Amino acid sequence: MHVRPVDPTTLTIPVTFLSDDPDSLGMEGPERVVMAAKGQNLLEVALGNEINVEHACGGVCACSTCHIYVQEGMSLLSEPTEPEEDRVEEAPGLARNSRLSCQCEILCEGKILVRVPAWNRNAVKEVPH
Ligand code: FES
Repeated sequence: MHVRPVDPTTLTIPVTFLSDDPDSLGMEGPERVVMAAKGQNLLEVALGNEINVEHACGGVCACSTCHIYVQEGMSLLSEPTEPEEDRVEEAPGLARNSRLSCQCEILCEGKILVRVPAWNRNAVKEVPH
């Protein structure tokens, strides 16, 4: 997926990524704080910082592999659309704070905390052939 370039001076929003399986994401530990800009989505923020969140459809709301839990800062993000709500229901471990990271655009300044499920998986690949 192409990650749009960002003006470094606009990176003012701290986003904390938590993972129970940091190795699979390329993280050195269970927690990493990175800086983000308004207008970025959380998948771009992750990938731009080499946090390898699954994204089978390339960020177009056509899978559920980029599923995350937003633990803090939900009000700073764009509201889920109906297509996102339909799609995220396919994600394993669905919870009230489940979102598709590629659909979460950062709209406001504040603190954001997300957890990436350890069992994040590509549902498309799991369809029997
Ligand atoms: S990457 Fe497919 S829905 Fe987000």
